[in-house]
Amino acid sequence: MNLNYKILLLLALCICNAESEDPSGQFCNTDTNIGSGSQISANINRLLAELVSKTTSNGFIATSYGKNQDQVFGLGQCRGDVSSIDCSSCIQDAAKQIRQRCPNQADARIWYDHCFLRYNNKSFPGEIDTSFGIFYWNVENVTDPENFNKELGTLMDQIRAQAAETKNKGLGKGDTKLSSFVTLYALVQCTRDLSQIDCAQCLAIAVGNFETFCKDRKGCRVLYSSCYVRYELYPFFFPLDSKSNNTMADTLMAIVYP
Ligand SMILES: *[C@@H]1O[C@H](CO)[C@@H](O)[C@H](O)[C@H]1NC(C)=O
Ligand SMILES: *[C@@H]1O[C@H](CO)[C@@H](O)[C@H](O)[C@H]1NC(C)=O
Ligand SMILES: *[C@@H]1O[C@H](CO)[C@@H](O)[C@H](O)[C@H]1NC(C)=O
Repeated sequence: MNLNYKILLLLALCICNAESEDPSGQFCNTDTNIGSGSQISANINRLLAELVSKTTSNGFIATSYGKNQDQVFGLGQCRGDVSSIDCSSCIQDAAKQIRQRCPNQADARIWYDHCFLRYNNKSFPGEIDTSFGIFYWNVENVTDPENFNKELGTLMDQIRAQAAETKNKGLGKGDTKLSSFVTLYALVQCTRDLSQIDCAQCLAIAVGNFETFCKDRKGCRVLYSSCYVRYELYPFFFPLDSKSNNTMADTLMAIVYP
């Protein structure tokens, strides 16, 4: 892990439900406080309406609203495996919750399992951003770390390569049978404003944090503003693999600030 980063908050214990409609995390940048009656605030509302409609129809949008010092930039994206119905409900929740949770910030971000939404008065689309990260890990450890880490590494390499292919729109996913009863599932997703090279780099940084946050864990998630990485010993992406056991355990969370 990069030593320029510091962990400010650790140990938010949650019994996290993979299908929960609560956000997985949020970031309200308090260095960008704005008044609720300001022009920026009004522009954010107009921007959000566009983000909701375009993300719903296309799965992704990066756009802006307003002029000069009141211009705001926004990005909305659903995970590539999510249906348009689930995408629509996720991005609507996100647009509502982000304004409630970050009412006075020009730079705000919110993560859900199925979608991600972000806006800022500084232009960000096309730029890789791993400054702020949220990490979740299963409190349980695998029983055979050596084999597990080998299989995880191989699967991650495969799906990272998928994600960096233009036709896959930043998404890579796959599974590997570890034994007759245990299957490893993994998914990576870059935001679609990134170039292939930046996508690969974001994922490399995320996976580089496995050693710190995910080592030998049965499941782990890295949430950045430019990419998302997750693996579990149960199916969590679509199409759902219903044959497999769903064993979710307590999850710990850390938030890393720049
Ligand atoms: C964004 O808004 C904040 C708060 O009003 C302001 O301090 C900052 O200069 C703005 N940034 C840009 C790039 O306009
Ligand atoms: C998993 O391993 C970590 C690091 O070795 C340890 O601190 C933790 O207690 C283990 N968890 C369980 C549930 O045994
Ligand atoms: C689910 O797990 C149990 C033991 O934990 C095992 O007996 C069973 O065969 C598993 N089912 C599948 C489909 O893997």
